[in-house]
Amino acid sequence: MRILVTAGPTREFMDPVRFISNRSSGKMGYAVAIAARNRGHEVVLVSGPVALAAPVGVTVIPVVSAAEMLAAVSGNLDSCDVLVMAAAVADWRPAAVSGQKLKKLKREPDMRLEPTADILQTLKPRKGDRVFIGFAAETEQVEAEARRKLVSKGLDMIIANDVSQADAGFDVDTNRVVLITSEALPLSLPLMSKQEVGTRVIQWVEERVKASPRKGGIAGLRDMAPAGSVPRAPGRLAQQLGFIREIDRLKLVLRRTLLMDGTRYENDAEHSWHLAVMAILLREHANTPDVDVGRVVKMVLVHDIVEIDAGDTYCYDDAGNRGKVAREQVAAARLFGLLPEDQRQEFQALWEEFESRVTPEAKFAAALDRVQPLMHNYYTGGVVWKQHGVNSAKVQDRNRHVGEGSLALWEFAEELIRDAVARGYLEA
Ligand code: CTP
Repeated sequence: MRILVTAGPTREFMDPVRFISNRSSGKMGYAVAIAARNRGHEVVLVSGPVALAAPVGVTVIPVVSAAEMLAAVSGNLDSCDVLVMAAAVADWRPAAVSGQKLKKLKREPDMRLEPTADILQTLKPRKGDRVFIGFAAETEQVEAEARRKLVSKGLDMIIANDVSQADAGFDVDTNRVVLITSEALPLSLPLMSKQEVGTRVIQWVEERVKASPRKGGIAGLRDMAPAGSVPRAPGRLAQQLGFIREIDRLKLVLRRTLLMDGTRYENDAEHSWHLAVMAILLREHANTPDVDVGRVVKMVLVHDIVEIDAGDTYCYDDAGNRGKVAREQVAAARLFGLLPEDQRQEFQALWEEFESRVTPEAKFAAALDRVQPLMHNYYTGGVVWKQHGVNSAKVQDRNRHVGEGSLALWEFAEELIRDAVARGYLEA
């Protein structure tokens, strides 16, 4: 597909040095463009003034004002199958633009504003079979406002986000969005990197137009290979290498837990690695003395791979947890299905064993999976617990099964919870 993406703010000048603009950093639009490129599509990116590097392999058309953005989008629309309007287009511009810098010694400038053209509205009559996608950054009545725009602008999808939250919206690398279409129920995605949101949007478009990524043999496989012929592996090895490339995306899935130094959110791959090290170090504390630590390591390394497709569901998010099982089963089938059959079976079995929490290995792995985020929450002063209004009873409840895998770790966890309450990190 050929995908036209807009990003960043526009600037509406009143004189040669002053302009009206907004807080958009362009990160979300650039993430969509990069995701589309990574999935093998041709990308034209119409970008307002931003401090981001032009993505390699993407045709970037720099613009400044809403009028220039409209002209660039309009000029490229015919050759594109999809338009993603992620730009924060200024809604007003000064009615008169002074050719000279306005002087403060003179009288106050006449700051009359006039509306800019709405790009989506203007191009609506030319939509045809194209997929049109908009973004709605709102501070109140997020879904209702976004739905109104979906209808009035004739869009196939609108991506709504609440920009009043600190970890979503302007200038951050993460976003928490709701995907709204006219035909399906809104899909609330958990907090994830903007890159991952971009990938979800492009995957949705691919589904919609039933087009698979152009390059690469395996659906969903990123193909950033350099131009020209690249080394190809034969059959079985090719499948294994394809899977290895696919699971690189686990590094893009952000969890709700902050790194213990509080600098950023942890990603899923980092979480799995942490558990693997814990399994090796802490095996003597498993309830079953002869626990097979090799299998525990395998299980913790495999357990979150499904989140590449299913996303991370926060353990205290009751709504998100309702559809989780079905979402993850579909994801497991697709992802493990990329492997040779014997390894598909092995990974699927390890994942199911972990989820069922019946064998001593699975119980120990699950204990580690719970203690690790507890430590992160504790050492970051419980900020994430507080954000989500979680109290000690809930934490006790969700984590009680740690004792099934390791009584020693459960004793430690209980102590941590007690102390977190005493320190004011966690509500009693
Ligand atoms: N948009 C556009 N042209 C404009 C303004 C916005 O094409 N002049 C697009 C944006 O890129 C976005 C969608 O319309 O995809 C919604 O933008 P938003 O600013 O949220 O909505 P507005 O229509 O400007 O409405 P309001 O200011 O009332 O929120």
